[in-house]
Amino acid sequence: MKLLFLNGPNLNMLGIREPDIYGKQTYADLEGYIRDFCKELGIECEIFQSNHEGALVDAIQGAYRKFDGVVINPAAYTHTSVALLDALKAVGLPAVEVHLSDVSKREDFRQVSYVRLACCKTFAGYGFQGYRLAAEHLVSLNG
Ligand code: DQA
Repeated sequence: MKLLFLNGPNLNMLGIREPDIYGKQTYADLEGYIRDFCKELGIECEIFQSNHEGALVDAIQGAYRKFDGVVINPAAYTHTSVALLDALKAVGLPAVEVHLSDVSKREDFRQVSYVRLACCKTFAGYGFQGYRLAAEHLVSLNG
C-alpha cells in the first residue's frame, strides 16, 4: 500500500507558528513521525508540503494510478479551495482530511471545508496522531 501525505500552507512553519495551537514540534518532526509509523504499518509513503494551491493540485493529479490513498491537511486551503476538492474528485482516490487543531472549536470561517466533500473521513484535533489515524483508516478500507 502506498499513501501520499499532503500538507498545505504554513505547515512548514510548525514549531514557530502559534505553538499554543499547533504545538512546539517542527515540520521535520512531523515528517519523521509519518515515516516511522508508515514503516511500522508496512506502508510506503511520500510526503509533500507546499504553500501553493496549484502545486497541491499537481500533487493530487500526480497521485492518479500511483498511490492507493491520500492523507491531506490542506491547512488554510481547506476553507477556500474548490480546486483541491475538484482534484481529489478527479483522481477518485480514497482521501482522509486531517487537521492538527480541532477546527470545529475555532473561528466560524474554519467551519467550512471544501475538501471534506471528497474525503471519506476527517480527523481534527489529534495533533500528529491524526495522520496515523488517517493512514490506519485507509489501510482498513484496503482490505
Ligand atoms: C489546520 C487548520 C486550518 O484552519 C489552518 O488554516 C491551518 C492548519 C490544522 O492543521 O489545524 O493552517 O489545517
